[in-house]
Amino acid sequence: MTSGASRRLEGRLIALGVCGSVAAYKSIELVRLLRAEGAEVVVLMTKAATAFAGTLAFQALSGHAVETDVLGLLPDNRIGHIVVADTADAIVVAPATARWLGAMANGIADDPVTAACLASSAPVVVAPAMDGDMWTHPATRANVARLQDVFGYRLVPPETGSLASGQTGIGRLAELPTIVDAVVATVGTRPVRRPDAADRPPRVAAPHEADLAGRHIVVSAGGTAEPIDPVRFIGNRSTGKMGVAIAEAALARGARVTMVAGRVEVSLPAEAAVVHAESTALMREAVLDAVFTDSADALIMAAAVADFRPRQTADHKLVRGGSLTLELEPTEDILAEVGRQATGTTPRPVIVGFAAETGSLDRAPEKLRRKGADFLVANDVSEAGSGFGTDTNRVQILAADGSREDLPLLSKRDVAHHILNRVARALDARDALAHTGRPRTES
Ligand SMILES: Cc1cc2nc3c(=O)[nH]c(=O)nc-3n(C[C@H](O)[C@H](O)[C@H](O)COP(=O)(O)O)c2cc1C
Repeated sequence: MTSGASRRLEGRLIALGVCGSVAAYKSIELVRLLRAEGAEVVVLMTKAATAFAGTLAFQALSGHAVETDVLGLLPDNRIGHIVVADTADAIVVAPATARWLGAMANGIADDPVTAACLASSAPVVVAPAMDGDMWTHPATRANVARLQDVFGYRLVPPETGSLASGQTGIGRLAELPTIVDAVVATVGTRPVRRPDAADRPPRVAAPHEADLAGRHIVVSAGGTAEPIDPVRFIGNRSTGKMGVAIAEAALARGARVTMVAGRVEVSLPAEAAVVHAESTALMREAVLDAVFTDSADALIMAAAVADFRPRQTADHKLVRGGSLTLELEPTEDILAEVGRQATGTTPRPVIVGFAAETGSLDRAPEKLRRKGADFLVANDVSEAGSGFGTDTNRVQILAADGSREDLPLLSKRDVAHHILNRVARALDARDALAHTGRPRTES
């Protein structure tokens, strides 16, 4: 029986497969019981199961997005059912339908539950539920026998009782504590397969408080374009995804957001005030205006700003001909300028810069000092899944106090929330210092 004292599945990842039976609603409670045993739970559902019980309760209780589509990819582009297959300490299918038993016995991977079981070396527990005649049919008997005898799956047989068909007979889903006990027995003393959260299916971000309510956050996004002539420019590969993720996350946490947008390939949040500024010179003007004239609490410079621009811009389209030499001059360093102006501004805005590097992040601490920023978000844009155009990013957040936070590969939305956690704490500390004259102590 489930005991409050001992959490028998502590640290385990249990995958729960739910099929299309009236008993699917009981699986919501099963998630709760597994979690009470200390397990992390990820739920996979067949399409039919979603008609019997919605995904929302499963997601809310498990903290993971529910896998309903065998063709589905995770936000970081990993294949959902394979990640579950590779990381789960056990898979429990409850309720298992007659159809699912047949599909599984024959290796037909057309739903996420079957696909995960097929792709996994984790032990599998199967708790069927169905009409009594379906359960006793020779096809079902043969399928169950194959799962037990050939695949080594542990069966939690259905019990006798009243069934959805109106009959009384064998076919009711076993009692939930019996299923939990079977999972515990199956996992046994095996070592935890993949304890690292980064290997497991990503958790759904917990809803954030409105901890930026009343704050004005300026976010720059996208790449700058430095004109060569009226039709050509020097640009970069930035799409604006990271800046937009930050702006959306800040809005969700209650901030007023001004976006200073260079060239972007994604749509900008409707709730943000948007200033378009394609060149570095225009972006400088727009950022200084938003930060100092419109009293920003924080600036997050996620835009990829050019370091050089053509010394001269032709006022007519350059025509094809011999070779052409462009002379480049350095652009304004917007972040450093904001850092300089912010010193002496009360209240001082919190300043966050980005450093897109290739190969090594060694230059980042020096860049943080030189720019006068509070935080520098550094990433290696040459790394797979990190940088321009991707939905994910692996970053380090360096702080002016010398500390450094190394984050795993995360969705840009999650990276945005990590950055905003730092900004929110820095703003609270700034305000506490202004009111009391004393630094804020952690509670
Ligand atoms: C109201 C209702 C209840 C059902 N209950 C069960 C059940 O308990 N077990 C079962 O094997 N099939 C049951 N079925 C039939 C399945 O939903 C159907 O075979 C479906 O294709 C199963 O899909 P899945 O295995 O992909 O979840 C039920 C159908 C209806 C309409």
